[in-house]
Amino acid sequence: MTGTVLYEVRRARDQHELAAALELRHAVFCVEQGVPEHDELDGRDHEGIHLVAVENGELLGTCRIVMVGSTAQLSRLAVRDDARRRGIATALLDLADAETRFAHGRRVVLHAQIYARDLYEQAGYRARGRAFREAGIEHIAMEKVL
Ligand SMILES: CC(C)(COP(=O)(O)OP(=O)(O)OC[C@H]1O[C@@H](n2cnc3c(N)ncnc32)[C@H](O)[C@@H]1OP(=O)(O)O)[C@@H](O)C(=O)NCCC(=O)NCCS
Repeated sequence: MTGTVLYEVRRARDQHELAAALELRHAVFCVEQGVPEHDELDGRDHEGIHLVAVENGELLGTCRIVMVGSTAQLSRLAVRDDARRRGIATALLDLADAETRFAHGRRVVLHAQIYARDLYEQAGYRARGRAFREAGIEHIAMEKVL
């Protein structure tokens, strides 16, 4: 059946899933996009809530939120290349909203790669300020007030 959504989105439930999420991030950001490993691994994974999209036991997507007061910093949103345009990133962003509310957060902020701006706008984010370079890639700050 084409078009059927089979994946689930939820928190990573163990070290094995967290390791798979880090592997996907490495493949997407470092190998595909050329982001230096020291930028990808910023030392904040231990404070993050790691969300994953899983289908038939395979990890297809991930993102991370780090709570700073009532603000959730969202980053590391990555979907496996053969699983894109199926709504997985959108589903992870929805779950990030729910997790933020659960943590009594009031807003979510992120640095969006310019090419992905539509994804975030469709999820209710608004751009703030000017574009800037981060890890060699053009970004813009975006935020969503919950
Ligand atoms: C960006 C990324 C996370 C999107 O994941 P995804 O699961 O394919 O996104 P979705 O299916 O939820 O897309 C929803 C909408 O966002 C927009 N969108 C998604 N990917 C896009 C792209 N590459 N170019 C332009 N618009 C895009 C589209 O409007 C899309 O709706 P449509 O498929 O009906 O046209 C994925 O392409 C990825 O992992 N890219 C490499 C890592 C990266 O750039 N991460 C983002 C860092 S800011």
